[in-house]
Amino acid sequence: MLKQPNLTVNNAGHLCVGGIDAVALAEKYGTPLYLLDEDMVRARMGLYASAMAAHLPAGSRPYYASKALCCKELCRWAKEEGMGLDAVSSGELYTALAAGFPAEDICLHGNAKTVEDIRYAVESGVGLIAADGEEELYRIDAVAGEMGVRQRVLLRVTPGIDPHTFAAVNTGVIDVKFGVPIPTGQALAVTKTALALSNIILEGFHCHVGSQIFDADPFLLEADVMAAFLSDVRRQTGYIAPVLDLGGGFAVAYAEADAAPDCAGMIAALAGRLRENFAQYDYPLPRIILEPGRGIVAAAGVTLYTVQNVKSVPGRACYVALDGGMTDDPRYALYGARYTALIADRADEPQTERVTLAGRCCESGDLLGEDMPLQAARAGDVLAVLVTGAYNYSMASNYNRVPRPPIAALRGGEDRLIVRRETLADIVGCDL
Ligand code: LLP
Repeated sequence: MLKQPNLTVNNAGHLCVGGIDAVALAEKYGTPLYLLDEDMVRARMGLYASAMAAHLPAGSRPYYASKALCCKELCRWAKEEGMGLDAVSSGELYTALAAGFPAEDICLHGNAKTVEDIRYAVESGVGLIAADGEEELYRIDAVAGEMGVRQRVLLRVTPGIDPHTFAAVNTGVIDVKFGVPIPTGQALAVTKTALALSNIILEGFHCHVGSQIFDADPFLLEADVMAAFLSDVRRQTGYIAPVLDLGGGFAVAYAEADAAPDCAGMIAALAGRLRENFAQYDYPLPRIILEPGRGIVAAAGVTLYTVQNVKSVPGRACYVALDGGMTDDPRYALYGARYTALIADRADEPQTERVTLAGRCCESGDLLGEDMPLQAARAGDVLAVLVTGAYNYSMASNYNRVPRPPIAALRGGEDRLIVRRETLADIVGCDL
């Protein structure tokens, strides 16, 4: 089994999460059920905050990328743990504000913000808007002008780094929908525009190289490219950036074979490289923002299902069909994402089978994984899929009009719902 200190097996052979029997939780709340280990989420939030405080200039801070898992309670935890918050839509912004998250600690992202999104953000007093390009700068400037405020803005640039080859590339990886490319010279030109707009205060720059990054190298390369760019901007315009947002992307282990990523070590290495680079250009080190999402919540999540039926096709796959699937976790269907699964009510038994985990939707691609090791499964078993805290609930859908599962938070050996189960009435809630 994937080694995580919060996952244990009790005397009954049941999986326990945060010390609580998962089978008992499945009985209490029903399945499918998302479990979220609150102690672990808070510890992860604290880890990023303390690593940044230890190695980076005062005022540097992690912003929780709420796209990974957004609900009011998560925003409250982020606030209590001293994080900023990255919202990518009016919906995420609304959730954070409804939870009492301070607007000045929020950065609004998104590559295609509408005027309504921008107006809502400016009106709410968000601390930062990451502008994705020139038109957006004009739009933010116009909205801020209408409201008689000056909006603090980061300009999102594309550094042209391939996180998988750890290489800076001049083409290819700049061919993405996000940000203004540095290598083409467009980023410098748009910076000049930003500096000329009177209702905008350019606070600095934002970039993000990718997600599920195990190695510090792409972040170090990002530090190289961004320091060179900032120095170039200063040479051409005299502008010195107070803030540099390097995005998120810290990996987590989904399977036993995955290396356990050392995010604190990666942050220390990144900080060292930033210091070297900025010293080399004799440039004051900006305040750094990082935007971890997956690294905060993924490993704290476990999803529980009830096995509905088991079907063996002789010589082919053994299908274990569940009461959930792509509607609560579309990541295998979308990306072929790998997971670790186990039978929670016989967690102490060896995983002798190889199975396909099938969802309940009316399409053959609705799977949670193929060729997965598992205990011999029976109808009625509680099946647990591990490391589902990130991009599961947040990407869940009502496909086939399946209601979304609730989230139970586990803290100090106690459990409580933080998101209730959707009802069939919710399913028709918007229908006229
Ligand atoms: N900041 C920006 C600008 C981002 O685009 C992202 C993720 C993050 C921060 C957070 O990255 P993280 O620390 O979570 O890797 N749905 C996919 C992941 C999409 C990530 C999109 N952007 C998945 O399920 O793997």
